[in-house]
Amino acid sequence: MSIDYSQKIPNNVDLSSNKTLQRALEHWQPAYLDWWNEMGPDKTSTAEVYLRTAISVDPKGWAHFDHVRMPDYRWGIFLAPAEVDRKVNFGEHKGQPAWQEVPGEYRSTLRRIIVTQGDTEPASVEQQRHLGMTCPSLYDMRNLFQVNVEEGRHLWAMVYLLHAHFGRDGREEGEALLERRSGDADNPRILTAFNEKTPDWLSFFMFTFITDRDGKFQLAALAESGFDPLSRTCRFMLTEEAHHLFVGESGISRIIQRTCEAMASHKTDDPAKLRAMGVIDLPTLQKYLNFHYSVTSDLYGAEISSNAASFYTNGLKGRYEETKLGDDHRLDTAEYPVMEVVGDRIITRHVPALTALNERLRDDWVKDVQGGIDRWNKVPEKLGIPFRFTLPHKGFHRKIGIFGELHVSPEGKVISEAEWTHKHRDWLPTAEDRAFVQSLMGRVAEPGKFANWIAPPSRGINNQPVDFEYVRFN
Ligand SMILES: [Fe+2]
Ligand SMILES: [Fe+2]
Repeated sequence: MSIDYSQKIPNNVDLSSNKTLQRALEHWQPAYLDWWNEMGPDKTSTAEVYLRTAISVDPKGWAHFDHVRMPDYRWGIFLAPAEVDRKVNFGEHKGQPAWQEVPGEYRSTLRRIIVTQGDTEPASVEQQRHLGMTCPSLYDMRNLFQVNVEEGRHLWAMVYLLHAHFGRDGREEGEALLERRSGDADNPRILTAFNEKTPDWLSFFMFTFITDRDGKFQLAALAESGFDPLSRTCRFMLTEEAHHLFVGESGISRIIQRTCEAMASHKTDDPAKLRAMGVIDLPTLQKYLNFHYSVTSDLYGAEISSNAASFYTNGLKGRYEETKLGDDHRLDTAEYPVMEVVGDRIITRHVPALTALNERLRDDWVKDVQGGIDRWNKVPEKLGIPFRFTLPHKGFHRKIGIFGELHVSPEGKVISEAEWTHKHRDWLPTAEDRAFVQSLMGRVAEPGKFANWIAPPSRGINNQPVDFEYVRFN
């Protein structure tokens, strides 16, 4: 499964054997580059960035690192190797051969699933496009751009599927993916979280820690799909996603480290004093966590969903690690616990598992987020600081599902509108908090130098030193 870089569009799908498809994608390619130049990282057309590029889809050693001008990055089409005799592994078609072509009856549903996933990829690039101007270091700037080019490639991945399997409709969707804009009033991106701003690096790290992790779980569920090309493309995307999660988790961890060091050396936990020292106090970090966690939780949709049930029954979208689960993979009789609000009490009841697949995927994501929080909490623990980060209750600050019409405190108490109005400033970033974080953002672009509010990483990228020239300006 080596990648052919001699082609205009690098690929491992033998694109040159299908001239019609190749021409269609070569036609889309300049439109994509126009989009990148207009909406990709701001003022970077001449910068050379130490980027990894896929050279094979082998899980070991697929990456090649070098300084690259971003518009020259070789975006291409890479699928994980086909699994011999792969079957549909769940739902009513379980045991049948996996589909190499789209089953007619699922055509519009699959197209919608692919377009919705595809839309998030350019959206995040648009959300992050100004961050290079305020990077805390060259190391971080390089990581931002690595994430950006790979989100661009994920768009390629979805557009390939649309072109290869959905004919004219697919090509039209491919164009529309370049036309929507994050946050645009007239033509926004499809999902709400992808129309929010990513105005500062704290938001960026929270986004890559939490929202890219939603990406991981959505891709993992689609990697189980009975539609084999979708499965194969998602499996390769997941290998790229792991780095995005690392960028977010380690970024926040370094911020916590810096703040905790200031707290320990000045023997204070007073947010005002810490802010005066130019570090971000831990309660403010907790508020950003609450915000990104709750907004991203909505991406999983309503707890009870007939759409999710039919995606599963039809073999289109599985559960996280479907093939490792030891049940009937049909969910004819299984149940799953979901929360329900009765009066002002939140209770748990069991519902048919088939209808609760959104909730199940959300729970898998929550567990994974919690793992990262536990690792963050080791930082204050080591420095003898009692503060611990916690995830708010699932019902906190939700817009979709059973909690959508209610106010719930981070502790999980259903509260009145008045109490919410009184208290929400303690739980979510206020305009002043955001202004403070914004005030710290200034560009640090000298090798080995880091902004005051974030600790250096413990090691560099690809065994390079921390003070390596990760981005060269010409
Ligand atoms: Fe992505
Ligand atoms: Fe990502």
